[in-house]
Amino acid sequence: MSVAQLNDEQVVELKDYLLHRERKLDGDLLPYGDPAGKDLLVFGSGIGNEILWAARHGARSVVAVDLYDVNPAPLRLAMEEEGIEFSAYEFREQNIHDTALTGEQYDLIVSNGVFEHVFDLKGVLGAFRPLLRPGGRVAIFADSLWYSSLGGHINREPWEHLWRSTPELKEVLPPKRWRVMCDQLNRMTVVDFIEAVRSVGMLIMQMKIGRDPNLRHLPALLPAIQERSVVTPTDLSAVSIGCELCFVEHL
Ligand SMILES: C[S@@+](CC[C@H](N)C(=O)[O-])C[C@H]1O[C@@H](n2cnc3c(N)ncnc32)[C@H](O)[C@@H]1O
Repeated sequence: MSVAQLNDEQVVELKDYLLHRERKLDGDLLPYGDPAGKDLLVFGSGIGNEILWAARHGARSVVAVDLYDVNPAPLRLAMEEEGIEFSAYEFREQNIHDTALTGEQYDLIVSNGVFEHVFDLKGVLGAFRPLLRPGGRVAIFADSLWYSSLGGHINREPWEHLWRSTPELKEVLPPKRWRVMCDQLNRMTVVDFIEAVRSVGMLIMQMKIGRDPNLRHLPALLPAIQERSVVTPTDLSAVSIGCELCFVEHL
């Protein structure tokens, strides 16, 4: 969705959402990449929570790419409210594959809440290669993976996207949620992600698989889930992937 046109009320609403998302980044992203003193590239920035976070942690500069035109007003308001003075950033409406052709290089590429949406995992990971300078690293946090209890991004019962029938789900979901669930989630497992990392020859410096928060409900739901999809308990148990990656030539 383009956020180019916003009224005052929407700017405030998005600023609050941005601050809410930014607060989680110290736990979710900082273990895998520290922005201090670095030139950052944000892959899939949305309204810019990673820019605020990077500014808070002393980044030198930030380029934030997204497929959509981003209105900077919520970020500006958030920075003002938080008393953060940082102007070395740029929102850029650009596909990461085009960013890869610019000849630019960064110290750190960060991505939060994007990889569970990306269909071309290998293509995107491969696009990071020319964008890193020596010592360059990639920090990724992908949350609410498809097979997790939160994977349908529908804010309903645990694993409801996997045990409820498709016609029933269509009936109960708002159209926008229905579209996100059907068209914008890649259904990757942790193994799919690691295979993509492996296929582009990246090194795993560290990786943490987050345990699903609703595992206690799984035994009762497993038969209904397995009736509708071919899925293992292993895939159902992982809610997130956090990792630090790099390429051998940048070590
Ligand atoms: C769910 S949003 C997350 C936004 C933000 N990182 C956050 O945590 O709120 C995922 C974003 O990734 C962007 N995206 C997906 N594929 C992309 C690509 N190939 N190049 C640039 N941005 C991409 C989408 O446009 C979307 O805004």
